[in-house]
Amino acid sequence: MEVVIAPADRLARLAADVVERLVRAGATEGGHAVLGLATGSTPLAVYDELARRHVEDGLSFAGVEAFMLDEYVGLAADHPERYRNVIERELVARVDLDPADVHGPDGLAPDLPAACAAYEAAILEAGGVDVQILGIGTDGHVAFNEPGSSLASRTRLKTLTHGTRVDNARFFGGDLDAVPLHCLTQGLATIMQARHLVLLATGRGKAEAVHQLVEGPVSALWPATVLQLHPHVSVLVDDDAACRLQLAGFYREAYAAKPTWQGL
Ligand code: PGA
Repeated sequence: MEVVIAPADRLARLAADVVERLVRAGATEGGHAVLGLATGSTPLAVYDELARRHVEDGLSFAGVEAFMLDEYVGLAADHPERYRNVIERELVARVDLDPADVHGPDGLAPDLPAACAAYEAAILEAGGVDVQILGIGTDGHVAFNEPGSSLASRTRLKTLTHGTRVDNARFFGGDLDAVPLHCLTQGLATIMQARHLVLLATGRGKAEAVHQLVEGPVSALWPATVLQLHPHVSVLVDDDAACRLQLAGFYREAYAAKPTWQGL
């Protein structure tokens, strides 16, 4: 696990560099690049940077396949906060990603378990995710794997915690009752199969979750801690999100001393 502590705009550029390298190379394995997309506010700066590179540097996403992490259950197809619509608005419509190549769990499916199984199969069929962008919840969730999630979980129906619904109410005009109670989410084992995980966190509100993620014991109480078992994780945090890290000084030294050829 590599921890990079830097200002938020630099973190967004570093994450965009990883995506750009993948997209320009075509894939890390298999025939085409497969990108894992996250919603929430933290990845937006990465999507802004990718859209800028598309326009100014000709970065093309043609032929890239993308998989989203999660989706609310029951939000109407045209609801602006449905994650499918969020990702279309924040990234797909701003670059040349083909919307038909962007997949998400279907929170409106009549048979939700079947939709979850189909989603797992689709990821497998695509050859797995090369680079997965991740945020982290204040309670340590990744995607919508709330505390208590099985570390071996697969895409399934989950109930959002009260805290997550409070955190997300800002997207629903501050109306807690408008935030769905249920979601479909890639499981922790699903996420762990992506080849490179790039997690971003900014702000003091994430400091405890980041401390647990990097330095806490692996536990379902802090689901993100399972990432400690992944061989290739980049944790990109600003000073505020890093403020509880016990070994922050060492992470800074190690990154500053990193050979330039190494990359993330
Ligand atoms: P945020 O959400 O980026 O909006 O803080 C992160 C998450 O809940 O995973």
